[in-house]
Amino acid sequence: MVRCQSSSVDSSNQEYMNPHDHSSVTKIHPDPNREFPPLIDSFGRVHESLRVSVTDACNIRCRYCMPAVVNGFLPQHRLMSFDAIHRVVSVLAASGIRKVRLTGGEPLMRPNLDQLVQQLSSIDGLQHIALTTNGMMLADQLPALEQAGLTHVNISLDTLREDAFQQISRRQGLESVLQGIDAAIKSRLQVRLNALMLRDINLQDCVPLVQFARDRKLIIRFIEFMPLDADRNWNQDQVVSGSELRSILQSHFGSLDSVGRADPSQPSSDYMFADGNGGVGFIDPVSQPFCSSCNRLRLTADGKLRNCLFGREEWDVKSLCESNASNQEIYALVAQCVANKYAAHGISELNFKQPDRAMYQIGG
Ligand code: 5AD
Ligand code: SF4
Repeated sequence: MVRCQSSSVDSSNQEYMNPHDHSSVTKIHPDPNREFPPLIDSFGRVHESLRVSVTDACNIRCRYCMPAVVNGFLPQHRLMSFDAIHRVVSVLAASGIRKVRLTGGEPLMRPNLDQLVQQLSSIDGLQHIALTTNGMMLADQLPALEQAGLTHVNISLDTLREDAFQQISRRQGLESVLQGIDAAIKSRLQVRLNALMLRDINLQDCVPLVQFARDRKLIIRFIEFMPLDADRNWNQDQVVSGSELRSILQSHFGSLDSVGRADPSQPSSDYMFADGNGGVGFIDPVSQPFCSSCNRLRLTADGKLRNCLFGREEWDVKSLCESNASNQEIYALVAQCVANKYAAHGISELNFKQPDRAMYQIGG
């Protein structure tokens, strides 16, 4: 069995396990038509969602994710091939995974991504094939992706000011992101915007961003800054919590009506404007951890399975695929990864340790 641990393995995060925290356990019964049993961890969480990173490369260098200078990205031979991704996703779909989200790095940097989408869209049981992108290359690639079967796209938009865009991403390019958003709105895909606020850089942009989303009847979701930046500059003072943002937005736009978890499989707390124009979601992993309802697994671009963004252990499914393993053996590795999932990430605990890999290396 292929299992790997990072060299500085440390089980400190394990202390946050709470075996009694079964608050959002979903009861599901094995489906006799499914080839493999459902992926249920030791806290009763049923896994239905997989995030697949297709590359660690990116065309910008967001300071909350990447270093200013990268010491090379993964070479082609270390990337999981489309065939291997298709195989692993097929096994996962046969055990209850319903949603796949393609991430990176910037997933549109991986050549011919539409071919992977096409391959995934032939898998029985998958309901969503989604993409998280910085939007810069989206306008060009959207027609092929849509044609191939992509269903959802999340586009990152942290500011509408070019100077702030450059300060955050260390590159130019806001105009092409806006073109990507326009193209997505015109497509049949379900579109959402993701924004990350850094207190000292773009907090002032939250109102214009929400106005931008409202004008286009789009949902925008604010994601709290997590300790996953390559520079390790994360600091609680830079985190703008969802509740702080909510008060700023309510004082500007009037009251927001909570719709709770509009989609229970999503981590955001969602709100709609009373006039029905757009809505706002808040993903608050730092101030309001949602670990008790986490139903996600992750596959890194170099073919490692992870059960948590903050996990310190990985399971090498790429090597397994390359060793002519059976689907049963692939399922067994996935099941082992799920069985080892901790109850919570423990970001706010004193002995929390930032993972060795940054967001772009794990998958956003
Ligand atoms: N904390 C929270 N979200 C992050 N992302 C990248 N780095 C971080 C971080 N440190 C998210 C951004 C982007 C998506 C691809 O990943 O919101 O929209
Ligand atoms: Fe690239 Fe996304 Fe990381 Fe920004 S957050 S540097 S767009 S991978």
